[in-house]
Amino acid sequence: MTHYVIIWYGGFMKSKILQLLIDSNDYISGVKISEILNVSRVNVWKHINGLKKMGYNIESKHNKGYKLIKEIGEFNEIELQRLINSIGLKLKAYYFDEIDSTNNYLKMLDSKEDSFVLSLAQTKGRGRRGRQWKSNKGDGIYFSLSIHPRISPSLVGVLTSVSALALQRVIGNNSLIKWPNDIFIKGRKLSGILCELITEIHEIERVIIGIGVNLRGVKDNSFKSTGLLDEGIDFNISDFITRFLKEFFLLYNNFLKELDLKKIKDEINAKSYFLNKKVYSSNDKKQYTYLGIDEYNNALLKEKNGEIKKVFFGELSLKRMD
Ligand code: BTN
Repeated sequence: MTHYVIIWYGGFMKSKILQLLIDSNDYISGVKISEILNVSRVNVWKHINGLKKMGYNIESKHNKGYKLIKEIGEFNEIELQRLINSIGLKLKAYYFDEIDSTNNYLKMLDSKEDSFVLSLAQTKGRGRRGRQWKSNKGDGIYFSLSIHPRISPSLVGVLTSVSALALQRVIGNNSLIKWPNDIFIKGRKLSGILCELITEIHEIERVIIGIGVNLRGVKDNSFKSTGLLDEGIDFNISDFITRFLKEFFLLYNNFLKELDLKKIKDEINAKSYFLNKKVYSSNDKKQYTYLGIDEYNNALLKEKNGEIKKVFFGELSLKRMD
């Protein structure tokens, strides 16, 4: 018999039990569940009760075991964990109807495990450069990943581009990447990424990648915005998250091998919002022509005298920002 080492915690175990109930499509005994998942029968019983309290209709029959009568149908932490398990990722899931900020939550959690948190609303959503990220329920989805890449802090810019490309591939529909990591459609902002580092001097301890995707355009202080629904793009939360996580981990695992963007920089540049446009840099307020990024995510900016400058932080805009 195969023995699995299972990291035990509530949401994860419930998602595993639920998956067994769905797969068996009939009664499955508590003994069998406890053997497969290597937990006691008492724990199986406790988790089944937990699932019932969440609204899952599970029938218990003496001598037969448990059977799922009907799935709950709506999104919750167990569904999120199940979705993550189904794509083979080792990520611990957290789900909220409302939270202050998904990035803050992962920071506070300080977990050694890679984790993913999704919320339908945020009361203190944060954007880049200290900006607020308005996060009302129904206007968008808000999620963050906490990962532990053993890389130098200098490579984090490369990682933000990896996230932006994953997001752009999922959104599709002529969306473009605005350096360093926003997604735009038809000149309007649809999504933003806030990457935060928890780091020692030479090595990153944790990276938190927070993403806000608008469903509807939100009045924002700094950008005209739009949303997936405004653009007539089909949206289904589990489908979106599944596709994003698949794309992200595909690109991220490659990045951990290559540690640069050589293989994907052409795709990123082809999908660039700024390519060959005149842009202003927030660092020196000067105007340049944007030539794309290099393999380390530096923006290549051509000065009026033809010289090329590499910029690795800051913001670029079509209009001068004062
Ligand atoms: C930006 O464009 O300024 C970045 C916006 C990032 C917003 C997301 S929403 C999920 C995560 N939690 C936060 O508080 N911020 C990020």
